This record gives sequence, C-alpha cells and structure tokens, in this order.
Amino acid sequence: MLFLSIETSCDETAAAIFEDGSPETGPIIRSSVVASQLKLHARFGGVVPEVAARAHLQQLLHVVDESLQQAKVKLSEINAIAVMNRPGLVGALLVGVSAAKALSWSLGVPLIAVNHIDAHLYACRLSAKRNIYPCVGLVVSGGHTTLFHCQSALEIKPLGGTIDDAAGEAFDKVAALLGLGFPGGPAVERAAKAGNPKKYQFPRSFLREERLDFSFSGLKTAVRYCLRDIEATGTAIEEQVKADVAASFQKAVVDVLVGKCRQALERLQLRTLAVGGGVTANQTFRSALEDMAEAEGVELMIPPMAWCTDNAAMAALAVEAWHAGDVASLDLDAEPVWSGRKNKQK
Ligand code: KG4
Ligand code: ZN
Repeated sequence: MLFLSIETSCDETAAAIFEDGSPETGPIIRSSVVASQLKLHARFGGVVPEVAARAHLQQLLHVVDESLQQAKVKLSEINAIAVMNRPGLVGALLVGVSAAKALSWSLGVPLIAVNHIDAHLYACRLSAKRNIYPCVGLVVSGGHTTLFHCQSALEIKPLGGTIDDAAGEAFDKVAALLGLGFPGGPAVERAAKAGNPKKYQFPRSFLREERLDFSFSGLKTAVRYCLRDIEATGTAIEEQVKADVAASFQKAVVDVLVGKCRQALERLQLRTLAVGGGVTANQTFRSALEDMAEAEGVELMIPPMAWCTDNAAMAALAVEAWHAGDVASLDLDAEPVWSGRKNKQK
C-alpha cells in the first residue's frame, strides 16, 4: 500500500511517499522532499505566519510532484493520503489540510490525520526499523519541549513539558540577543564551538526538582542580563564573548534536557529513550544523550538529522493509524493547538 504525506505546519513545505512495510520493520520511505522557507523568514528574524502560509501555497504542489518523481510513483497509484493537521500555525496547516482533502476526494482514497508531535517521535521508530516501545519520548522543537510515556506509536501520554518557552525557541531568542541571525539553533551551535561552556553559570530550571517540566524563559533572561552587565563594564561583545555565552547557554539547555530524560526513565523504570524534534539536530545535545544512555544502560533512539527537523517522512505514523482503523473524514480541520487528545478523528 502506497501513502502520500503532506507537512505544512510551520516553515517547511514537505511531502513524502512511503509503503506500509511489515509490522516488524515498519514503513518504508520511498521519497522525502522538503522545501525550506528559511530565506523568506530570515530578514524578519523569525517565522511570519502569513508569509509561511503563502509560501506553502506556492510550493506545495511542486513538492508533491517532486516526491512522486523521486519515488517513481504516479499519483494514480497512491492508496492513501496522510496530512499533519495539528499542532502548528493555523494558516500554514490549512494549506496542507486543504490539499490533502482535495487529493483524497479526487483520488477516492482514505485521508489520515497525523499529530506532528507524535510524528517527531515516530521518526525514531522509523529509523530504528524495529519496535521501540514502551519508551520515554522527548520532543524538543521550536514549539514544544515535552516528555512522554510512549506505550505504542499511538498511545502517547504527556509526562510534563515547558511552562513557558520551548527549548528551540530559547535557542532562537538567544541567537537574536547575540546577533547571530535566524534560525537560531544552528547559529548558536556554530558559535558555541569556539566557546567555553563553563564561562558563565546560567540557571538550570527544575533540574533538582521532581517535576518533569521545563522552563527556559529565565535562562533567556539570564543571558540578556549577562550581556547587559558585560556591556555596562564598557567591554564590547566580541566574538569570543559571544562564543562563551553561546556555549554556556547551550550547556545549560542540554543539562536540563538530558537530566529530565534521566529522571523520566527512572520514574517509569524504562530502558529506552526516543528523542525527536529540531533541537535533536544539535551535536552537543546528541553527544550528551549518548553519554547518559551509555552510563545508565539505556537504549537511545535518535533519528538521522533529516528526520529531526520538520519533514513529511515522519508522517508514516499514518500507517499505524491506518492499521488501527483511524481514518479521518473530509470535514477534517486544522488544529493549531495540541490538545493532548488521543490520535482519533472519528
Ligand atoms: O522540529 P522543528 O524543525 O520545527 C518545529 O516543529 O518547531 O524545530 C525547529 C527548532 C528551531 O527552534 C531551531 O532553532 C531548532 O529547532 N534547531 C536547533 C538546531 N537545529 C534546529 N536547535 C539547536 N541546535 C541545532 N542544531
Ligand atoms: Zn516539528
């Protein structure tokens, strides 16, 4: 069975073609195409929702065509359409949802709705090519920083999450404070390479508390005050200062993320950890997760880089939904806010 999936939740226009595969090894990705809008948003220093929605409109059909061509598949051979309809920017989501509904109706094939956050975790199952459940899941992206108890691909219960900024958002804001440009995550990571992570002591919120929540707004403010204090002494914010601040900030985020994963694994007595979302592309974070996993005897599942940031391949979660009989109707809507409900449309 062949699926075509669509992703337009934020600033990447993406489509993928996949086969259902076997229950053991999971879906097989035939193609995955991502058209990034980064250049369009860079001059605004962040994603502009209206610009994102318009760019999806312009790019989506080309991206779908490209995904079919790369997979050597004709549109008429597609047996189901999958779309990420939640959460995300509503105008952006609507472009993908509308296109998916039109394709489903015109081809006469089922429509399957996918939760973008669950899909980030499914990227781990997809790349592992074997069962990874039960496990602790962490989604760490521009919009979310949430820990989950994953009983299966579709049974995912939140354990805790950020009470203010997401980790990726903190990277983006600190990059702006340091004048490093957009997107902030990769820019901070590049700057941090030449920096000393012990130079500044930034807060690690909730790290010593039992709750499995996160808070990054205090950390962002601490970086702001640190830069202000340096400037107040008459010192210019030179490259080395930027590098040291970036490295110290990155270390604070990584310490908290890894520490909370360790706590969640211990609390649930689980030995498998799946981590997904854009921030998972960060090498310092990946190395710290690997070190923790080795020290604790935990099996770590991280997707390859291309499946950490937004893409449509991870919507292969639709295969699981399909097997569970979870098919959406043509009145499917875009849901901008993740409601934590189960993955059911009917
Ligand atoms: O998952 P994603 O592509 O989109 C959302 O669903 O939000 O995540 C985007 C976020 C951005 O905040 C970006 O700055 C961050 O992931 N990010 C990184 C890195 N690459 C992307 N953060 C830290 N280090 C990176 N290398
Ligand atoms: Zn995402």
